Amino acid sequence: MVKLNISVLGIGYVGLCTAVGFASRGYNVIASTHDAEKAAKINKGVPPFHEPNLQNLLKEAIDSGNLTCLVDETEKAVLQTDLTFSAVGTPSRTDGSIDLHFIETSSHDMGKALRQKSAYHVVVIKSTVVPGTTQDLVKPILERESKKKCGTDFGLCMNPEFLRQGSAFEDTIHTDRIVIGEHDKKSGDKLENLYKDFYGKDTPPTIRTTLATAELIKYASNAMLATKISFINTIANICEKIQGADVKDVATAMGLDKRIGTLFLDAGLGYGGSCFPKDVKALIASSKAFDYTPELLESVENVNHTQPLKAVQLCKQQLGNLEGKKIAILGLAFKPDTDDMREARVIPIINQLLKEGAHVTAYDPVAIPTAKTIFNTKIQYASSALDCIKNADCCIIVTEWPEFQKLSPEDFAKNMKQPILIDGRRIYNPQTYSKKLKFTAIGLGK
Ligand SMILES: NC(=O)c1ccc[n+]([C@@H]2O[C@H](COP(=O)([O-])OP(=O)(O)OC[C@H]3O[C@@H](n4cnc5c(N)ncnc54)[C@H](O)[C@@H]3O)[C@@H](O)[C@H]2O)c1
Repeated sequence: MVKLNISVLGIGYVGLCTAVGFASRGYNVIASTHDAEKAAKINKGVPPFHEPNLQNLLKEAIDSGNLTCLVDETEKAVLQTDLTFSAVGTPSRTDGSIDLHFIETSSHDMGKALRQKSAYHVVVIKSTVVPGTTQDLVKPILERESKKKCGTDFGLCMNPEFLRQGSAFEDTIHTDRIVIGEHDKKSGDKLENLYKDFYGKDTPPTIRTTLATAELIKYASNAMLATKISFINTIANICEKIQGADVKDVATAMGLDKRIGTLFLDAGLGYGGSCFPKDVKALIASSKAFDYTPELLESVENVNHTQPLKAVQLCKQQLGNLEGKKIAILGLAFKPDTDDMREARVIPIINQLLKEGAHVTAYDPVAIPTAKTIFNTKIQYASSALDCIKNADCCIIVTEWPEFQKLSPEDFAKNMKQPILIDGRRIYNPQTYSKKLKFTAIGLGK
């Protein structure tokens, strides 16, 4: 089978992993972004963000000539390829609804390119978009700009992405399932055949469905995971009121029930990142636009909004007034193995600590450059975890980086001014750490 030539618009986590994934299996891939700095890095084989296992494969893809990244040349990318994955960002507006601005502009660009193209081309929306977007926004723009008919002159699919930052490339290569929302059968066949060629005998279960159902599958999946997190955080908050209760044991036992499962039952400071918060908000906003209020999801959101501030409350319970106190923050990224701080739970925590007059020193293995763009000189940045906790009145664990697990109770006791440790991610054994420290943790009863 002749390999399709592939273009990718938007070269963030999804676009870059898709591009490198196909290039690593011998496809000719042309990416296009409007960010010249990002493109320059990519063309040198340097990922523009921290993502494990991506560096070498990106370098190989560039050196082999299988991947090139253009700047603002969507038309060229579409004209020179057979199928385009659009993976542009879909951020939140201030009211929580989805901002489809990048989807609109990229659709205009793709439509203009299609006007000049005689060969059949398939457009695949990979970005997370609210139900109805591909049919009611993308398709009309493509048809208007191209002066062609979707389904006969060109194809259109919606193919949501399920990768997780921190294991993004691995997830691209070994996905649990492929969801293909198709405008028409020919479009869906083209995309399914591409994936069959890409994954070979390891092709995962493939669900073919309508455009709107594919769009909703992505939101329903993220909303379910966010619900599990807010659920266990609710149980954690109940545990904190009960003598001798510990949410960790509750979650372990619950997880052994096959109907529930162990994953996403880690109590903590809530979910952050570029997806869950914005996707839950967008699903609520789009449901309300259809005149339905999803009360369950509103509660999920509310729990997540207040949860990070539990860390500050626990800190105040130990220290009283925070004015002038030195608080050490371990972990800035929204999760380990990324330098992404979009909607990171540390942001409301640090903002509240600063409001209360505390002096904040923070450390993260990779996210300090990102943090500097957010907090600038409002906080201090440490060069290591030990440097961070030195002379601190209290330390809060915000991100569960494995290197923080290596800190012993003695490390905290020896280095801190007051040995007060708040475990916001449940990475320490309370029995061991409470022997030498004033230890509190999310979901740990009195
Ligand atoms: N990050 C994740 O873990 C993840 C997982 C699954 C799905 N998604 C979804 O995938 C989409 C992309 O997410 P991301 O995290 O990769 O985004 P990102 O914000 O990291 O990158 C998006 C990129 O698109 C670029 N862009 C915008 N308009 C463009 C255009 N017209 N032409 C070319 N480039 C353009 C932006 O400059 C940016 O670099 C979003 O809809 C997101 O919700 C993300």
